[in-house]
Amino acid sequence: MIPNAPLFSSPFILAPLAGFTDAPFRHIAHEWGSGGAITEMISAEGLARDSRNTEALLARYDEEKPLVAQLFGPSLDPFMRCVDRLMEYAPDMIDINCGCPVAKVVKTGAGSALMRRPDEIHRIVDHLVRNTPCPVSVKFRLGWDSSSLNYMEVASAAADAGAWMLTLHARTRSQGYSGKADWSHIARLKEHMRGTDVKIFASGDIFSAQDAVDVMDRTGCDGVMIARGAMGNPFIFTQAARLQEGRGWQVSLKERKTTMLRHLDYMVQAFGDDVAMRDMRKHAVHYVKGLRGAGQAKAMINVARSREDYERALDMLDDEGAVPQVENTFEF
Ligand SMILES: Cc1cc2nc3c(=O)[nH]c(=O)nc-3n(C[C@H](O)[C@H](O)[C@H](O)COP(=O)(O)O)c2cc1C
Repeated sequence: MIPNAPLFSSPFILAPLAGFTDAPFRHIAHEWGSGGAITEMISAEGLARDSRNTEALLARYDEEKPLVAQLFGPSLDPFMRCVDRLMEYAPDMIDINCGCPVAKVVKTGAGSALMRRPDEIHRIVDHLVRNTPCPVSVKFRLGWDSSSLNYMEVASAAADAGAWMLTLHARTRSQGYSGKADWSHIARLKEHMRGTDVKIFASGDIFSAQDAVDVMDRTGCDGVMIARGAMGNPFIFTQAARLQEGRGWQVSLKERKTTMLRHLDYMVQAFGDDVAMRDMRKHAVHYVKGLRGAGQAKAMINVARSREDYERALDMLDDEGAVPQVENTFEF
């Protein structure tokens, strides 16, 4: 049986981003209209072994709903052993990572390497559907490489086991984060799932609100995961929703700065001063990207040790209304 739909309040949701989508960033994205957000990928094995670092990734911000926990693992076994521990955090949905291309993950058989074993994906989804109250989703790629595009087979395996939602990152494992995502496969997947209740979400090259609206229009998908396009740019969720209604909107420089400082405040609350001042840097470089004065602001942020240091760095920005450029620059 396919469980009831979790409450995504908009079709535009924050994709899982290891090192980024912690509770403070998910909170900020929610405030700017994301319909939901996925945690960073969490090791099923680490969770089964009660690793504190692993469990920290499951922390939710006050009243976060839905909490969508993304798990990765090489086989059914760690997923079976981590379920009790996972349920203590009462997630509203569980997502299985079948797309991570990073060598240290795939060499264990997890992430996109799981796509080579659709039967195992079926077993994992089936177990979670039967043994948790949560809707289960799978996030995957087109296949291992261009000569082995098996996303349809993976989708069928997951859907047959009761998956509620499927997210296709329209690249292969060997593409990593380079090249272009080919959205035509998302349209084909949606067609393939016609007649079922399975929700199809798109991922890949959603760098602007226009991209988010376009991918829905062109593929008929049910929703969109926004990843790199949301880094330092949570405003994209409001922009996409307005664009869908035919309205334009730009965030002001003042709002951009206020949001960044609030993001810093949430990080301080969650992790304490030292970690927050340091870890906010990776978000801050994206917040200031493309704005006049960004170079100087970044240099100051790199040595910032207090909220006041961040405020002084933001004073360097003076390009009211400018739109930062989000680029396809991530490589592993
Ligand atoms: C830094 C980084 C971390 C990521 N971490 C995860 C992750 O933990 N789980 C996951 O399923 N995908 C992860 N992804 C993939 C994204 O969720 C998304 O599918 C991918 O970036 C394609 O979307 P985009 O081209 O719009 O960025 C990550 C991507 C990046 C760039």
